[in-house]
Amino acid sequence: MIRSWLFVPGDSDKKMQKGRGNPADALILDLEDSVSDDHQEEARLLTRDFLIRNTDRSRQQLWVRINPLDHALSLADLAAVMPGAPDGIVLPKVKSADDINKLSDYLDILEVREGLPAGSTKILSVATETAQSLLTFHSYLESVSKRLVALTWGGEDLAAALGASDNKNPQTGGYDDVFIYARSMCLATARAIDAQPVGVVYVNYRDLAGLEAECLHDRRTGFVGKAAIHPDQCEVINRAFSPSEAEISHARKVVKLFADNPGKGTIGLDGQMLDMPHLKQAQNLLQLAQIIEEKDRADDNGD
Ligand code: COA
Ligand code: MG
Repeated sequence: MIRSWLFVPGDSDKKMQKGRGNPADALILDLEDSVSDDHQEEARLLTRDFLIRNTDRSRQQLWVRINPLDHALSLADLAAVMPGAPDGIVLPKVKSADDINKLSDYLDILEVREGLPAGSTKILSVATETAQSLLTFHSYLESVSKRLVALTWGGEDLAAALGASDNKNPQTGGYDDVFIYARSMCLATARAIDAQPVGVVYVNYRDLAGLEAECLHDRRTGFVGKAAIHPDQCEVINRAFSPSEAEISHARKVVKLFADNPGKGTIGLDGQMLDMPHLKQAQNLLQLAQIIEEKDRADDNGD
């Protein structure tokens, strides 16, 4: 389970090294927007070498964001980084599930070339950065590659694609309607296909209290984990997306209550009505807590 996904510019060996020591569950080595045109070649080679040098992915996965599929550089990016066996590819500016399937076909071939297990490279879709993407969410339900394990959304490129001068409402400070629509559809689509919905980056990286509040909002809504742009953000994200002791003990109570009352579909607990969705939520939370505990134990053992 990946809680924090830290973007690291792929042309900065220093930042990639720094990312490696960060508690981020995954790094996204970026070949797209954080790399200028004249650093593309260098970034591709640095990123490949970094992947090749860092084969242990047990504590932290290494993903790569390539250029969009309709960009001339995207295939060169993929061909360059696959020898490093990235855990996954982040695909930006997706228009529909067709893009995911096309990327998956490319990966089929490159995995053979590199002698990697078929299907081992996962995909995260940045699912709301183009105008087309807002009209094609249903395509994910028709037929999409099993490599697709996570969806996230983006408000910055979408604003540009829609001709908007800003994505925030100046009165409230919150996102404007169309961006809330994008966020909601990303969440619903991810859940509909059993993929992880990942919260969007919080760009004001000095404001950790604001980040924490947004993480908790994301989590309440159904998102699991969040993208980050600065190392300081990952600890906050990990904490916010880990169940608290109080949540774990409440979930244990709920599970025990149903186990002690077999055949009952509804039970009262502290004046609250509990039924099957509450049991499912409690089971999910305990499962999540267990995954995190195992991961923390592996970290302590220096794995
Ligand atoms: N990954 C790894 N290390 C990072 C980092 C990142 N994303 N962002 C900053 N750092 C490092 C800095 O190099 C610096 O290291 P040092 O103390 O050894 O010199 C340290 O963390 C503190 O950084 P800070 O001075 O607070 O920020 P900055 O001015 O160096 O960088 C940004 C600010 C926004 C340029 C930087 O955070 C960044 O590049 N973020 C990623 C941007 C990105 O990938 N965008 C695309 C996705 S939306
Ligand atoms: Mg972008």
